[in-house]
Amino acid sequence: MPVANMRALLAQARAQGRAVGAFSVSSLEMILGVVRAAEALRTPVILQVAQVRLGLMPLRVLGRAMLSAAQDAAVPVGVHLDHATSLDVVAQALDTGFTSVMYDGSALPLAQNMLNTQEVMRLARPYGAAVEAEVGRVGRTEAGEPSPAECADPGDCVAFAAQTGVDALAVAIGNAHGVYAGAPHLRLDILAQVHARVDTPLVLHGGTGIGPEAFRSMIGLGICKINIATALFQANASAALANAGRGYFEMARACLEASQQVAQEHIAAFGVAPGEKGGFPHERAVSR
Ligand code: 13P
Repeated sequence: MPVANMRALLAQARAQGRAVGAFSVSSLEMILGVVRAAEALRTPVILQVAQVRLGLMPLRVLGRAMLSAAQDAAVPVGVHLDHATSLDVVAQALDTGFTSVMYDGSALPLAQNMLNTQEVMRLARPYGAAVEAEVGRVGRTEAGEPSPAECADPGDCVAFAAQTGVDALAVAIGNAHGVYAGAPHLRLDILAQVHARVDTPLVLHGGTGIGPEAFRSMIGLGICKINIATALFQANASAALANAGRGYFEMARACLEASQQVAQEHIAAFGVAPGEKGGFPHERAVSR
């Protein structure tokens, strides 16, 4: 089937009271593991890769594998560029066939972030691709480097959404990429204020280490897409270490299975699509 567009995936998830899992991948094992998890739960997902990871796996190799897996999947799968800071890389991703891109101008002053995001919107329009942007600053970079966290100002979110017309807005609410040192202190009060004033689907970065209850609360406050990277990377590293002595192919199989398990657990926590399996426990949890 055609690669799914993030705009449609988020609208459907919102209507069904769940969030789409967006999994950061860097290998064929991760790509296939995530797609198999989505197929097992008959729930759409997003495969994504951050610009900072393309030094290891070039866009035209990894990106094409992501697109090919998405086309062959039995459920809708979107293909997304995460945390792009370069317009050239955005243009390459769009040309390769990615159906959405995130422009990350969170390190810039708000006005410049808006201007650059508007330029990305112009680039994406001819492709019909969806655009995500970030307001405030999520702690640590996607590559795990330190960077100051700064919660989004709800007024800035209103202005940003109105002036850019982005399809999805990542709001920083004390969340951080990588491993949380203690229990994450998430500012649900800020999220509630943004949700009350902004109609744009909201995105949660830094999903690793957040529990199912907190996910459910945030989905009730407008979160429609949740990013998971570190949990997938750690599961692959552990599976590779534990199985290295069994030879390359057993190790690769263990990585694929670990990827599927991590993705499946998270998709189940974010809510599965209603379907013939009859299971949609998340809807009941949200509407309580
Ligand atoms: P984690 O690495 O904390 O799962 O965050 C992923 C993410 O937000 C990618 O953009």
